[in-house]
Amino acid sequence: MKAGIIGTGSYVPDKRVTNEDMAVLVETTDDWIVSRTGIRQRRFSDGESTWHMAERAALAALENAGCSASELDLIIVSTVTPDYFTPSISCILQGRLKAARAFAFDINAACSGFIYGLDIARRYVEAGAAKKALLVCSETLTKITDFTDRNTCVLFGDGAGAVVIGATEGPGIMETYLASDGTGASLLVSKALAAINPVCPEPAPDILDARSDRFIHMDGKEVYKFAVRAMPEAIDKVLAKGGLRIDEVSHILPHQANARIIESVVEKYGLDPSKVLVTLDKYGNTSSSSIPIGLDELNRSGGLRQGQLLLAVGFGAGLTYGSALIRWQEANHA
Ligand code: UT7
Repeated sequence: MKAGIIGTGSYVPDKRVTNEDMAVLVETTDDWIVSRTGIRQRRFSDGESTWHMAERAALAALENAGCSASELDLIIVSTVTPDYFTPSISCILQGRLKAARAFAFDINAACSGFIYGLDIARRYVEAGAAKKALLVCSETLTKITDFTDRNTCVLFGDGAGAVVIGATEGPGIMETYLASDGTGASLLVSKALAAINPVCPEPAPDILDARSDRFIHMDGKEVYKFAVRAMPEAIDKVLAKGGLRIDEVSHILPHQANARIIESVVEKYGLDPSKVLVTLDKYGNTSSSSIPIGLDELNRSGGLRQGQLLLAVGFGAGLTYGSALIRWQEANHA
C-alpha cells in the first residue's frame, strides 16, 4: 500500500501586520527586517484560536480532496500553541468535523511538525491501519510572542495548513527522513506552567530557561547555524533514501523562517530559485504551518503537475529537522 497527498487546504487570519506596524511596537525598521529575514508582513490572529484556524484549513483540504470527514480514520494536528493542555486540538477537530471513525492525537515537533506528521500518517496508511488521514498544522504564535522583544516578535505569524493523505496507486509520499538533537533544546524555548505542589512549594530547578514567562526565547544566531547545517543534511538523506538527485526535484518546499537560510540552500545546490517556494514575505514564520500553507498555495495556483517531484524540508525547536520526498499525483485515490 502506498500513501499520497490527495488534498490540501490552508487558512490565514485576515489581519495583516506590516513591518511598519511592528516598528510602532519595538525599535526596528522595515529595512532591517527585510534585509535580515525577507519578511514584509505577517498575519495575526484577531482572537481566532488554534482549533478554529485548524478547522478552516481542514475543511478546505477535505473539499480539495473530495473527501468527507466521515471517511477519515486518523486525524493528526501539529501545534506548539494548543488552546488547552487537554483536550487535544485533534480531538476538538474530530468532534466538530463529525469524523466519528477517526482516532485523533496532537504532535509537537515545532517547525518540523508537518514533516513529522507526514511521516506518521504515511506509515499508518502504508500499513493498512488507516485509509484516509487528515494532517493539520495550526499555530497561533502570537500567544507566545513577546511584543517587547524585537529579536523575536518581528519573525512570527499565525496560520494553518492541512493535507489529506490517502491510499494511492502510485508512489505518493516516497520517502521521509526525521532527526532530532535534544542537546540544542535550550536554543528555542517557550515554557509551560510549573507544577503547583502545596506540600513542596519549591519548584525543581529549571533545566532550560529560568525565566517564568511563556514567551519564545531564541538564540537566533545558533538556530541559524543549526538550520544551515540541518537543511542540507535532511535534503541529502531523503534523496539518498529515494535514490534520486536534486535536479530531478521540481519544487523545494522549505520551512519559512528566514530568506537567508533558504538562499543558503539555493546556493549550496545551485538551484533555480523559481523552484524554491517562498511565502515568508507574506506570512512570516508560521512554524509547522509554513510548509503546508505554501503547498496549498502552489496546488491551488495550478503550479503542480502530475508526476512532479516535491521535496519538503523543515527544522525547528527541539531541535528537530526532517524532509519528505513526494511524487505529486492528481486525483490519485485508490
Ligand atoms: O523556525 C525556526 C526558528 N527560528 C529561526 O530559524 C531563526 C534563525 N535565526 C535568524 O533568522 C536570525 O538569527 C535572526 C533573524 C533572528 C537575527 O538575525 P541576525 O543577522 O543573526 O541578527 P543578530 O541577532 O546578530 O542581531 C544583529 C543586530 C543586534 O544589534 P547589535 O547587538 O549588533 O547592536 C540586534 O540587537 O540587530 C539587532 N536586532 C534588530 N535590529 C532592528 C535584532 N532584532 C532587530 C530588529 N530590528 N527587529
